[in-house]
Amino acid sequence: MAVTTTNRRVVLDRLPDGALSADCFRSDAAPTPEPGPGEALCRTILLSLDPANRAWMRGRTYRDQLRAGDVMAGYTLSEVVDPGDGPYPAGTIVAGEAGWQEYAALPVAGLQPVVPRGPLSHHMSVLGITGLTAYFGLLDVGRPQAGDTVAVSAAAGATGNVVGQLAKAAGARVVGISGADAKNRVLEEQLGFDVTVNHRGNLRAALKEACPEGIDVYFDNVGGAVLDAVLPRMAERGRIVCCGTVSQYEQPGMPAGAVGVPSLVITRRLRMEGFIVLDYADRFAAAEADLAARLADGALRALEDVVDGLDAAPAALVGMLAGENVGKRLVRVAEDPA
Ligand SMILES: NC(=O)c1ccc[n+]([C@@H]2O[C@H](COP(=O)([O-])OP(=O)(O)OC[C@H]3O[C@@H](n4cnc5c(N)ncnc54)[C@H](OP(=O)(O)O)[C@@H]3O)[C@@H](O)[C@H]2O)c1
Repeated sequence: MAVTTTNRRVVLDRLPDGALSADCFRSDAAPTPEPGPGEALCRTILLSLDPANRAWMRGRTYRDQLRAGDVMAGYTLSEVVDPGDGPYPAGTIVAGEAGWQEYAALPVAGLQPVVPRGPLSHHMSVLGITGLTAYFGLLDVGRPQAGDTVAVSAAAGATGNVVGQLAKAAGARVVGISGADAKNRVLEEQLGFDVTVNHRGNLRAALKEACPEGIDVYFDNVGGAVLDAVLPRMAERGRIVCCGTVSQYEQPGMPAGAVGVPSLVITRRLRMEGFIVLDYADRFAAAEADLAARLADGALRALEDVVDGLDAAPAALVGMLAGENVGKRLVRVAEDPA
């Protein structure tokens, strides 16, 4: 496909004041950039939508806060179309951070070449960051044993569905928590979850029924009220894997206090541990190979939720934060190269 002279982009027009809405963004067009020294021109194929996109608007995280007028930031899978003076020939598939635009001139130092194994979307779902997050968070931090009860929140989301599948493969009884009965049916009928509960109902009562022996490992993707309901169900020597707090990303500040938690942690001998997947970067290749082998032999399924076209990205991000997605939400910006 020829490189176009115009680069369509989605710009963060204003920072949200309260809940994010699609009208915080606007589409525009700019000249397609030329790669400068140390840069390659990349055409975006797939754009990852992540709860962290919303967190980047709230303040400084592991990166600078987004500002009004910025091209919206986002992780991408792209094809190198002009290698510039860099090492990646045209046609190389690279993971990077091109943001919400068709083309970006990106520093090659920040690009990760990808050797495609099947559809490229797999490299943004099961074999991508959220698959790796599930892998290291569950296996290294949660350390499930056969016979354990493993509960996971945002269970039908990108990270959660892989956590549940890996926990099942480890011989655990798997309890999925999501915000929709239809999602829970997918988890039970297609991915082998043993039982599911809906966090929009009486979650404490539902968990009591679903986990009569308590929860040995809780993989927490959401924090907030769901964590509050899970805590009293933790079994002795249980492990809480703190992966994310998506329930808080639309809130204005950090809520105060952890009343009651320390005494529960003591009396139940719990371990509550946070992690950042990037800390495991030196093991990514081995983990990706393991996940790819599981995918190839059918032990793992890729659950993906792909929306079409860059202009659909704002509403798709808002929808994901509201729980609309089933699996890893991606935006297809261009077809996989032949
Ligand atoms: N530690 C790390 O290195 C790392 C790396 C990647 C991602 N993460 C974190 O992992 C978590 C999951 O990310 P993901 O990319 O896999 O997203 P995701 O689960 O695909 O999408 C987010 C889901 O969160 C749920 N949710 C939203 N608001 C909620 C609320 N108030 N209460 C309960 N659930 C709510 C929604 O599902 P339902 O409400 O229907 O369940 C929604 O579908 C996020 O917190 C993210 O920040 C951490």
